[in-house]
Amino acid sequence: MYILSIDTSCDETSVAVTQQRCVRAHVEYTQAVVHAKWGGVVPSLAKRAHKERIDSVIERTLQKAKMDMEKIDALAVTVGPGLAIALEVGIRTAKNLSLQYNKPLIPVNHMEGHIYSCFVQNTKGNPVRPFSFPYLAILASGGHTELVHFSDHLCYTILGSTRDDAVGESLDKAARMLGFGYPGGPVIERLAEEVENKDYFQFPRPMLRSTDLDFSYAGLKTALMYFLRRMPETERSQKVREIASSYQEAAFGALVRKTQRAIQQTGVSSLLLGGGVAANKRLRTLLRTLARTHKGTIFFPPYKYLNADNAAMIGVVAYYKALQGLHSQNVEHINRVPRLALS
Ligand code: KG4
Ligand code: ZN
Repeated sequence: MYILSIDTSCDETSVAVTQQRCVRAHVEYTQAVVHAKWGGVVPSLAKRAHKERIDSVIERTLQKAKMDMEKIDALAVTVGPGLAIALEVGIRTAKNLSLQYNKPLIPVNHMEGHIYSCFVQNTKGNPVRPFSFPYLAILASGGHTELVHFSDHLCYTILGSTRDDAVGESLDKAARMLGFGYPGGPVIERLAEEVENKDYFQFPRPMLRSTDLDFSYAGLKTALMYFLRRMPETERSQKVREIASSYQEAAFGALVRKTQRAIQQTGVSSLLLGGGVAANKRLRTLLRTLARTHKGTIFFPPYKYLNADNAAMIGVVAYYKALQGLHSQNVEHINRVPRLALS
């Protein structure tokens, strides 16, 4: 079954052709340069860039897959969560194609995509990774920080989530306070690596005392703001690596401790990590160690592009939805749901 999938939830215009879990072709247009100087994603600019590129990205994806629309069995599109006016571009395009070529359309939740990103395969079907439920999925992106019990295909229970900022957003804001552009996560990672990820300043670990599995990153951001205010400008620029590293340790420390608590509470130690922050090597190391301590396993998105937003993961979710007959009966009823939750 060939699926053409589209994701325009944020700042990547991404299209893929997938067959079951295998990616036949994937093309994306990254808008990072459009937003960099604004310190974050500007929805109106994102919408315009998606509109300008979407048709050519679809065309290039089909060319790469050596296919035309006639050979596609179904379409899939991200309906949320994400930026409303950005989501709309992908949804409108998918609806038009669905009607024009008389193909079923499968609406997909972007966060489900990040969970399934750990199981996306290349054209040769690698990595094999058979499913072995249940899993504990850690979702860490610019908009979400969630711990999810993934009990079977398309079955999720949210165990904990952030009450304010997401972990990626927290890294982005810290980077901005330190004078860097968007996205901040990769900059913080590089600076921290230069001082071997040491924790110099011991910023407060958010929400560690609470017994639930929720997160809060607003306090950590405020702690950094006051810390920087007290520090003379010259010292600040000399210590930027040490500050970045300490901040990252505090942010990830909370994520790892809550994951540990979730393992203890559920008895599930097969971990999955998805979302933009999954690209971070330090976070991968910390979670790998945690999994090992609990005699468990951990899977990450196997190819680099799968860490970021991409349509391949949307196509893979859509395949499992198609197996359960979950395509839309009436295409016109598909709408964006910017705050769509996993259910
Ligand atoms: O999943 P994603 O591409 O978009 C959303 O759905 O939000 O995640 C973007 C987030 C940004 O906050 C970005 O700073 C963060 O992922 N990020 C990273 C790294 N690469 C991207 N954070 C830490 N380390 C990285 N290497
Ligand atoms: Zn995402």
